[in-house]
Amino acid sequence: MNPLGSVALVTGGAGSIGAAVCHRLAAMGMKVAVADLSGDAATNTASALPGGGHLGVAMDVAELVAVDSAMDLVTTQLGPVDVLVNVAGWDRFVAFVDTDPDFWDRVIDINYRGVLNTCRAVVPSMLERRQGRIVSVASDAARVGSSLETIYSGAKGAVVSFSKSLAREVAKAGVTVNVVCPGPTDTPLIRGMAEELSSGEKFLDALTKAVPMRRLAEADDIAPAVAFLASADAGYITGQTLSVSGGLTMA
Ligand SMILES: NC(=O)c1ccc[n+]([C@@H]2O[C@H](COP(=O)([O-])OP(=O)(O)OC[C@H]3O[C@@H](n4cnc5c(N)ncnc54)[C@H](O)[C@@H]3O)[C@@H](O)[C@H]2O)c1
Repeated sequence: MNPLGSVALVTGGAGSIGAAVCHRLAAMGMKVAVADLSGDAATNTASALPGGGHLGVAMDVAELVAVDSAMDLVTTQLGPVDVLVNVAGWDRFVAFVDTDPDFWDRVIDINYRGVLNTCRAVVPSMLERRQGRIVSVASDAARVGSSLETIYSGAKGAVVSFSKSLAREVAKAGVTVNVVCPGPTDTPLIRGMAEELSSGEKFLDALTKAVPMRRLAEADDIAPAVAFLASADAGYITGQTLSVSGGLTMA
């Protein structure tokens, strides 16, 4: 797979980690489709990327129909997707006993079903063309658990297990499927979640102290790992789960 001119699609591409990934892939010479809930935010991110031929597109990963129509647009304008990066995600800190089925549905639909929807849309063409890279951003919460993130941890754990099984199904065609698990990363997502707690700042301080490197990750700590697994160089790596968490977990 030649990264030059390859088409990459990044869900949640207008967010912190997503935009950092888009920049890395664009710098590798890929044409990047930035997909996010807001088409305007996606277009703004796309227009700031190095190189040309990028596209911003509105996509709600939780809705199969929305995913399929956004994929059609990307394929028509840029060509078939060679690299799919699933970054879209969402959560709130809530104790399990205080959650309800509406919350479960929202967390599962965005964090797990979203990955199923996008993979379903791109895998047939990857198999036909006998090339492809899929990288999903899960979380260390999937590997070691995380208090107040029970539903999210389960959904991200499902992404890890799904990815291993899909990796087995598509390996013969040269398509790889891997997962990157960030630890706590300083983005609007975790700041927003912490702000809703009465002891939000203390919570972030405690998280920081738990990291052997004594700092939260930045989006740019996560993006290089994703970009490597999306690259031609990673062609013999599949079904793997890589933590990028400053040593927080060493599973
Ligand atoms: N920040 C952390 O501490 C942390 C830790 C571990 C894993 N993660 C994961 O990293 C990924 C990126 O998170 P981030 O911290 O950059 O947050 P972020 O909020 O900056 O980015 C998330 C992006 O996903 C988009 N999004 C949300 N729901 C969507 C949907 N239904 N369809 C399409 N796009 C949707 C948002 O609009 C946003 O742009 C997420 O999957 C998150 O679960 C984050």
